[in-house]
Parts: sequence; C-alpha cells; structure tokens
Amino acid sequence: MTRTVFYSATTLDGYIADEHDSLDWLFVQDQDKDGPLNYDAFFAGVGAVVMGATTYLWLVDHLRKSGEKWPYELPSWVFTHRALEPVADNITFVSGKPVEHHAAIAEAAGDKDIWVVGGGGLAADWAEAGLLQELIVYIAPVTLGAGRPLFPRPFDLRLVELAQNKAFACARYEVVGPRT
Ligand SMILES: NC(=O)c1ccc[n+]([C@@H]2O[C@H](COP(=O)([O-])OP(=O)(O)OC[C@H]3O[C@@H](n4cnc5c(N)ncnc54)[C@H](OP(=O)(O)O)[C@@H]3O)[C@@H](O)[C@H]2O)c1
Repeated sequence: MTRTVFYSATTLDGYIADEHDSLDWLFVQDQDKDGPLNYDAFFAGVGAVVMGATTYLWLVDHLRKSGEKWPYELPSWVFTHRALEPVADNITFVSGKPVEHHAAIAEAAGDKDIWVVGGGGLAADWAEAGLLQELIVYIAPVTLGAGRPLFPRPFDLRLVELAQNKAFACARYEVVGPRT
C-alpha cells in the first residue's frame, strides 16, 4: 500500500530553510551519498512527489539559475492558490485539503510511496489528515534561530532508525498521531 513520507534536511533547531528561503547552511555540509538513509535509496521507492508553492518556486528559481531541467520524471503535485506556470508536463497544481487529492496521487504512485518534499506546514497538513506515515530527517549541525519550520504542529513520533552520515544525524520516525 502506498505510504506518504516527509523526507527533508533540517537544522538542529528545526528549520528547513532560513527566513529568506535559503539552503546555504545545508549545501556546505559533508555527506556520504551512499550512506545511511541516503536520498538515492529513498527516492528509488518514490512514485509521486508533492510540494507547496514556496518549495516549487524555490526549485524553479534554482533550475533557472543552474540551467537544469525539472528533476522529477515522476508525477508531481504542487499545492497552491495561485495560477503558477508549470515548468514540466508532469506537474499538477491543486489546492484544498490533502484528502481531496490523496487518492489520485496514490494511484499515480502505484506500488511506491508519495514523497512530501516540503514545506513543513504541508507535511503537517498530511499528518493531521492521517495521511503521513513517516518522517525522515537529515539533521545538519547548525542552528538558525528562525526560518521555515520543519513540522509546525504538535505530534507524537516514534524513532525507528538512527544513524550518522558524516556531518548529519539521520533519523527515521513513524508518525504516531497528533498530541492529545
Ligand atoms: N531542507 C530541505 O530539505 C527542504 C525541503 C523542502 C523545501 N525546503 C525549503 O523550505 C521552504 C518551505 O517553505 P514553506 O514551508 O513556507 O512552504 P511550502 O509548503 O513549500 O509552501 C507553502 C505555500 O504552499 C501553498 N499551499 C500550502 N498548502 C496549500 C493548500 N492546502 N492549498 C493550496 N495551497 C497551499 C501556499 O501558497 P499560495 O497560497 O501562495 O499559493 C503556501 O503559502 C522553501 O524555502 C523550500 O525551498 C527545504
């Protein structure tokens, strides 16, 4: 059955980007691309990607500057209230609650998982709807004091895997449910 996973890097104090949506703090960190909980192994199990508008626009800006193409051949969903320009044919813009779109996204993912790329508010929306099963975080050895939060709602999680990948502490959590 298709599961939904939020896989993200974060600072130690729980931010996935700084206040200006910069990831400069992340790109300078050392990691082993074949190490524990690595991206390539995770991505091999992904059948569809989901993201919020800020993450999408950050990616589009990054691609424009680097001259690269949209990195996902997988069906991709972007949650937005705006009429954004798609940069690839496999991008679908939607708005509303995750549950309104989950069936279509899960069907597109087939027997693989759905990856919530970010941000944290969208991931928490999926969790609140009971549609997020797992959280995988690469914790960078840095604090920012402010920024875009990793997971801005009260939830209980269960640690199921913990490892070091060079500079990063890597952890995999099962989402237990909202804190009561
Ligand atoms: N560290 C990492 O590994 C990592 C991973 C992913 C992202 N990031 C970065 O983290 C930051 C994430 O920013 P964020 O958390 O503020 O935002 P986000 O989730 O990427 O985008 C938030 C926006 O998405 C739209 N949205 C969210 N839910 C919606 C819904 N249910 N219906 C319609 N629209 C919806 C809204 O935009 P509108 O209403 O304006 O359209 C909202 O303002 C970005 O800078 C991104 O590049 C970092």
